[in-house]
Amino acid sequence: MAVDLLLGLQWGDEGKGKIVDVLTKNYDVIARFQGGPNAGHTLEFDGIKHVLHTIPSGIFHDSAINLVGNGVVIDPVIFRRELDNLSKFNIDYKSKMLISRKAHLILPTHRLLDAASEASKGKAKIGSTLKGIGPTYMDKTGRNGIRVGDLEMDNWKEKYRALANKHEAMIDFYKADIQYNLAEMETEFFAAIKVLKELTFIDSEEYLFRAQAEGKSILAEGAQGSLLDIDFGTYPYVTSSNTTAAGACTGLGVAPSKIKEVFGIFKAYTTRVGSGPFPTELFDSYGETMGRVGNEFGATTGRPRRCGWLDLVALKYAVRVNGVTQLMMMKGDVLSGFDKLKVCTAYEYKGERISHLPYNIEAENVKPIYTEMKGWDEDLTKLRDPSEFPAALNDYIDFLEKELEVPIKIVSVGPDRTQTIHR
Ligand code: IMP
Repeated sequence: MAVDLLLGLQWGDEGKGKIVDVLTKNYDVIARFQGGPNAGHTLEFDGIKHVLHTIPSGIFHDSAINLVGNGVVIDPVIFRRELDNLSKFNIDYKSKMLISRKAHLILPTHRLLDAASEASKGKAKIGSTLKGIGPTYMDKTGRNGIRVGDLEMDNWKEKYRALANKHEAMIDFYKADIQYNLAEMETEFFAAIKVLKELTFIDSEEYLFRAQAEGKSILAEGAQGSLLDIDFGTYPYVTSSNTTAAGACTGLGVAPSKIKEVFGIFKAYTTRVGSGPFPTELFDSYGETMGRVGNEFGATTGRPRRCGWLDLVALKYAVRVNGVTQLMMMKGDVLSGFDKLKVCTAYEYKGERISHLPYNIEAENVKPIYTEMKGWDEDLTKLRDPSEFPAALNDYIDFLEKELEVPIKIVSVGPDRTQTIHR
């Protein structure tokens, strides 16, 4: 049985959580493959909004196993809070959640290091979510990290202490003005570890291998977006993991030959939270409207998201890097009432027109070239069938499909599960 992948194609916040929740009924296993609590996956149904950070977005269905893969970094303190929230809704997470022994742990000092590193960068800061993601992946690749499987060993606290001591020396090195009480943070951390240890730890690659052999269907869930990928994103303004399709192979132990559908999710416009280049960013009333109507505030940090027109140059790049087979367009409803819509189809770069993403997309290097399209006035949020789409929306979708050469199979017209239209 094949594995399907679901990824964000922009700078994150495309609505992956909602779509995973909608698709979960088709799968036996939902497996998150990278990132950590920097993510904020929002799901809405029955009038309630849920935000997940580390836990896979299939957790609200009884039918699926939810697996936290080896590529994920787990902060036990945030994870515990997520579990507490699930308990409030009587979700029996213990029976349907599995954690990879090879997933790395975010320590309290990783969070402090993130803060110290960002503070030392001044204006050049990444705009990190300050959840300790970068320092944890640094320890992973530096071969110093502590993994979930270590918690089953007697000596893990010694390993913890040695690493935390080293981190404290590193924090001093930054000479950043950050106040902290590590003893308090550690009390919270060790209490959360106890809760984490009540869950089932597994050799997840073996579990997934067997699940495939038994004909089970698996959906790999990504976090962040392709333009935040450590290799293919707008480096250094990126996150520290591979958010693109290849990350699912390394983050779960799934072979590339087993991957079938690659679902690529994008918003009908573009947003970005944190620093870094954003060629189609708007500073006018159109951008302001997108932010207000689209409620564009980070689900993890509450920061306002920067907004801009859809950038097809960047989207095409993401479609190619990931080998996307089906597209899903989110938040089309936010564009209702715009008198015109613009789509960036090329860049002006060093006096030339180019249609690929160059090495440097800072504002001084690229200027977006737009195709202007007609907007629509109709409220899309009540629509449930493509036959009800206004003509201008159909034109917008047709144009994107032609440019991207991949079909748009789902159009989402609101945050609720029911506001999902299959084409
Ligand atoms: P970090 O992953 O917290 O280190 O943040 C690095 C960059 O990625 C910053 O610009 C963040 O705002 C951005 N980022 C991280 N996670 C997300 C996400 O889930 N959605 C959108 N942006 C994110």
